[in-house]
Amino acid sequence: MQNTRPIIAWETLLELAPSTADAGRPGRLPALRDRLEHALRDAIADGRLPAGAALPPSRVLADALGVSRWVVTETYGRLVAEGVLDARTGSATRVSAGWADAARPAPRDVARDPAAGVALSPAAPPRHPRFDLRPGIPDLRAVPRSRWAAALREGLAALPDRDLASAFPLGHPLATAAVAGYLGRSRLVDVEAARIVITHGATDGMALIASALRERGHTHVLVEDPSWPRLREVARRHGLEPVPVPVDAEGIDAVRLADEATRTGARAALLTPAHQFPLGVALHPSRRERLVAWAREVDGLLIEDDYDAEFRYDRRPIAALQRLAPDRVALIGSLSKSVTPALGVGWAVLPTWLPLADAPPAPSTIDQVALARFIANGDLERHLRSARVRFRRRRERLLAALAERMPDLPVSGIAAGMHLVLELPPGVVAADLVAAAPDDLALTALSRYLIASPAPEALVLGYGDLDDALVEEAVARLTALIRPR
Ligand SMILES: Cc1ncc(COP(=O)(O)O)c(C=O)c1O
Repeated sequence: MQNTRPIIAWETLLELAPSTADAGRPGRLPALRDRLEHALRDAIADGRLPAGAALPPSRVLADALGVSRWVVTETYGRLVAEGVLDARTGSATRVSAGWADAARPAPRDVARDPAAGVALSPAAPPRHPRFDLRPGIPDLRAVPRSRWAAALREGLAALPDRDLASAFPLGHPLATAAVAGYLGRSRLVDVEAARIVITHGATDGMALIASALRERGHTHVLVEDPSWPRLREVARRHGLEPVPVPVDAEGIDAVRLADEATRTGARAALLTPAHQFPLGVALHPSRRERLVAWAREVDGLLIEDDYDAEFRYDRRPIAALQRLAPDRVALIGSLSKSVTPALGVGWAVLPTWLPLADAPPAPSTIDQVALARFIANGDLERHLRSARVRFRRRRERLLAALAERMPDLPVSGIAAGMHLVLELPPGVVAADLVAAAPDDLALTALSRYLIASPAPEALVLGYGDLDDALVEEAVARLTALIRPR
């Protein structure tokens, strides 16, 4: 009988050779097992190994790649445990259906619905509603395009030739130094450039940290309830089961966190201390202390998602939690909320003990030096200053319009960021409003971010990309939807 299965050159499909950058880092060469795992993940993520694709038996793959069978069985085992591969007795190990789709990079237009935590299909036409009140979108009319272009030009012109042939998987030194300076000045982060990894964004940083924790035996991560689904999903995809912990007016409930940690064995927690997403509260100083003490006690890690802390209206921005305990807090951040997600650059500040064997590919060296220039030229901080003024004005206008048209509805989470929470009248269901909204009005229900905790029916209203001239009209449309005559 003829074998009709396509013959796959596994040794070509799964490139195990160390990268140029690995070669330049004595003592840091990732183990074969890690390189195979990376190669498999990459092949799945870019579609070379589609959902359902059968992998060869471990002996066959080991022969093709010239590695021991143990390397292959170990790697298959790890990826099966994470749900990346499916293993069924009597059948080939296959790429899991759900994982293959989720692993593919989200098209950048996901920025239009960043709060959804769901990648839009590339075929789906982007939605550009006139009144876009979804949270998480920065002011796209004010993106400093020409300053970024200048930073790119200058950074590239000054780049030594030899850097054009090297990879910097953990970050180009110019970029890590510039980010260290910026975080020290603006967020009072206690950091040396050597502890910074340049990423494609907070999501990427979370993936990096989750896989490093998994390597160290972590199986769970405590998460705020409500919270942004995308980071929870990334943690799950990298082997950490999210465990919800309720949030109140002082941030995440530290007592419940410790209880849930004891119940599940979790030793890591993902937090938004400066401005809880989406409720908008700041983590109370006593809870900050308590959480740091907990992390020390359990030899654990707090992951600080520092996503829009630059925009604070009632006082100076709150310093990063990382400052309290650099050895117990990893901070993830990006330019997604402060400038635009289209740049695709961010950072992770990591404690020295976290291994980094699984660092995903960094942004291109050219993007990294552009980031370095953008910061060194003062453009990032200039942009943040003017954005703060603009957001403050828009926020006041929005609050005034809400107070005028629906004075009885409680508004919260207004001290910082680019969104607020509007509680709905009794009997009105937020998800129904979202579904009933006309095409030109985009809304998000608070329930979208909830896991298990009860919460009032509310909308999370973003004003980052709302045209100033349209604020009153947007609120009029919203009022007509909430209170139809
Ligand atoms: C809570 C939260 N954290 C972080 C981010 C930024 O994620 P990334 O840098 O991966 O674009 C967002 C973007 O919407 C967010 O809502």
